[in-house]
Formats: sequence, structure tokens, C-alpha cells
Amino acid sequence: MKIAIGNDHRAFRLKCEIRDYLAGKGHEMIDAGAHDEAGSDYPVYGRAVAELVAQGRAELGIAICGTGAGISIAANKVRGIRAVVCSEPYTARLARQHNNANVLAFGARVIGIDMAKMIVDEWLAASFEGGRHQSRIDQISALESIRESMPVDL
Ligand code: RB5
Repeated sequence: MKIAIGNDHRAFRLKCEIRDYLAGKGHEMIDAGAHDEAGSDYPVYGRAVAELVAQGRAELGIAICGTGAGISIAANKVRGIRAVVCSEPYTARLARQHNNANVLAFGARVIGIDMAKMIVDEWLAASFEGGRHQSRIDQISALESIRESMPVDL
């Protein structure tokens, strides 16, 4: 599988380990940077990973910063991206099965390499179940077309 991976300075080392781990399993990795530990801005790399996925240049994306929060928020601003922060494998599996998450995010300050490997393994092994989940994904996609604040009917 072709997988884009990106990170900020805080996650550079974990990115390298996950990139090499997945390459060793036969995946084609596109490293969107950052390429060192010099201070960097996670929105740049969250966007880069997201654009690679949204444009079909990668099938899936992995985005890593200190917590996974900032880089996932940035990635989710790109149309068609469903980025989910996962700190354990169960959420990673369901994020794929139910939410069709096309970008996986996690935090280098939060989890270690072994947990990160378990999370990516679980996420990549799972597949979208469709069915009742598809209409919910369609509703999320429809939110991308809302241009103005609208009344919420609750
Ligand atoms: C960088 O210090 C840190 O803010 C970033 O890696 C991430 O945790 C943001 O969400």
C-alpha cells in the first residue's frame, strides 16, 4: 500500500521508526517531512499528508506530532480527509471500520514505539464496513459544503 507519513519536530524520531517499520513490511512510504528535529509547524505537515491522500497520491496517511491533536486538526481541514487521533489499537480499528479514517494520527509525547506499531498494524488490517456507516460518512462529507453558520435544529 502507498502510505504518506508526516510529522513535526517533536515526532521526527517516531516518524522515522514507523516509516521504516512499514517500509519493512512492503509498504511504499511517502515521507512528507519534517526531516529533522529543528522547530517546525505541524499544520504544514498535517496539510501535506492530507493533500497526498486527498489527491490520491497515497491511499492512506499517518500524521504524528507531540499529541496528535494539532496535526490531526490541520489534516481535517482538507476536503475528504477523516483524520483520527488514536492512542490505542481498538480506536484505530474502529476508526477504519466505522469512520473510514483515511489519516491516522498519534502523539510522540503520548505513546511509545511498541504501542505505535500496534496501532498502525490494527488500523491497516481493518477495512471500512460500509452499510449503515456509509450514510454517516456521507453526512460528514456534506458538512464540507456548508459555507455559512446555520441554525441547529435540536
Ligand atoms: C509542539 O511543541 C507541539 O505543540 C506539537 O507537537 C503538538 O503536540 C501539537 O498538537
